[in-house]
Amino acid sequence: MRRGLFLVFEGIDASGKSTQARRIAAMHNAHFAFEPGDSALGADLRHWLLDASLHMEPETEALLMLSDRSHHVRSVIEPNLERGRDVVLDRYFASTLAYQGYGRGVDLVDLRAATEIAIGSCLPDLTILLDIDLDVANERRARDAKDRFESADLDFHARVREGYLELADAYGDQWFIIDGSKSEQDVAAAIDDRVADLAWSHG
Ligand code: TYD
Repeated sequence: MRRGLFLVFEGIDASGKSTQARRIAAMHNAHFAFEPGDSALGADLRHWLLDASLHMEPETEALLMLSDRSHHVRSVIEPNLERGRDVVLDRYFASTLAYQGYGRGVDLVDLRAATEIAIGSCLPDLTILLDIDLDVANERRARDAKDRFESADLDFHARVREGYLELADAYGDQWFIIDGSKSEQDVAAAIDDRVADLAWSHG
């Protein structure tokens, strides 16, 4: 049986990627999943990871993200891909490189090595980066209670954004950058255009 298609959406908070990831998954009858926290074990990890009142060292944060991911890959992502189901994922290993590496300063070489333990050979066919500048992100961001990442300072988010752009550059054709500050319809059209030719299992 042919392996499913694996598509990942990345971007800083409020980039609009979750809306687009869910839309594309529904449109192509793919399995939608997200990180962190899309499993019973992951839900507990997510609770600790997003709790803004809990102090956590960057390395601890990174290893918890990777624990969630290693479980998610083996229990959800790989089984779906292996049985020929396409998977659309809202955040994957690039989030850890961007947030914990570029954002928090965890060593990138170490993070890449640990990422390999977490994901093995389970690499996306395509990663779509919704890039927005920080002013647009700030305007969009809800004013209510903020989680650990949303409450981080502007410099942190600037480093995360720069990190994503560097990663996109390094990965070349395996990544596609979209200007996420455009209207939702324009962003959707650009994504639809890019993914139209991919080998989806269901149209
Ligand atoms: P979530 O509420 O899912 O936000 P979003 O809709 O922006 O994806 O919160 C996930 C937060 O966790 C988000 O701020 C990014 C952060 N994160 C990391 O720092 N490292 C990671 O590896 C992942 C997957 C997420």
